[in-house]
Amino acid sequence: MSIADLRREYNLTGLRRSDLEADPIAQFKRWFAQAAGARASGRVRKFCIKLYKTLLAASGAEPMDLTAMSLATMDAEGRPSARVVLLKGVDQRGFIFYTNYESRKGQELALNPQAALVFYWSEQERQVCVAGEVTKLPPAESDAYFKSRPRGSRIAAWASQQSAVVRDRAALEEKWQQWEAQYAGQEVPRPPFWGGYLLSPARIEFWQGRPNRLHDRFRYTRQPDQSWRIERLSP
Ligand SMILES: Cc1cc2nc3c(=O)[nH]c(=O)nc-3n(C[C@H](O)[C@H](O)[C@H](O)COP(=O)(O)O)c2cc1C
Repeated sequence: MSIADLRREYNLTGLRRSDLEADPIAQFKRWFAQAAGARASGRVRKFCIKLYKTLLAASGAEPMDLTAMSLATMDAEGRPSARVVLLKGVDQRGFIFYTNYESRKGQELALNPQAALVFYWSEQERQVCVAGEVTKLPPAESDAYFKSRPRGSRIAAWASQQSAVVRDRAALEEKWQQWEAQYAGQEVPRPPFWGGYLLSPARIEFWQGRPNRLHDRFRYTRQPDQSWRIERLSP
């Protein structure tokens, strides 16, 4: 099998200027809902989704990771790094994710708060690219989210010095057991080095795959008066 010969034609649908919401967060929410199958309309479509979900449940497969997004940051020398994190909220302020503030990404964001996110929803043949400045969420908001996490994950937040070298798996599990014992019978508080970030978009691009690689791309750019300029980009 040649990797270079693997290719796919994108022909599901198009994206026109008249399809777009004036506000990119509203546009993002609409695409997200479609990727989640929530905007099912019509009896046949509803039936197909129900059938798909039944088959999915029977096969034990997890649904597509809709909230997974690549997050790119930069070190002090301008060298980029990227990894996947999960979107945990989106509102008029921007895109929210949670992580360890002392991880590699946390250290890079402390030096340079500019970052980029990429979502790829393959079933819809869609990509959304976001760029902007990242700030820490207010502690009360991180506390509220931390409380909602399963206890094991809350313990792991204490046990993992994210991005640091660890001797072996046993050392990691030992650390987890130690923190589990430390908080036995108690609420697990949020570590001060763990919490949320908010990426406030300066730019959001919506990409819809089209035949012959003549894809549709629209970019929203935030203007000084906080309105959004929308432009079609060449694929
Ligand atoms: C599907 C998926 C979801 C992930 N979600 C998160 C997340 O929400 N927060 C996080 O800190 N790491 C998450 N990770 C792990 C990160 O990709 C990464 O390994 C970790 O954050 C350390 O990154 P860093 O060393 O670049 O800081 C996820 C990984 C995958 C594959």
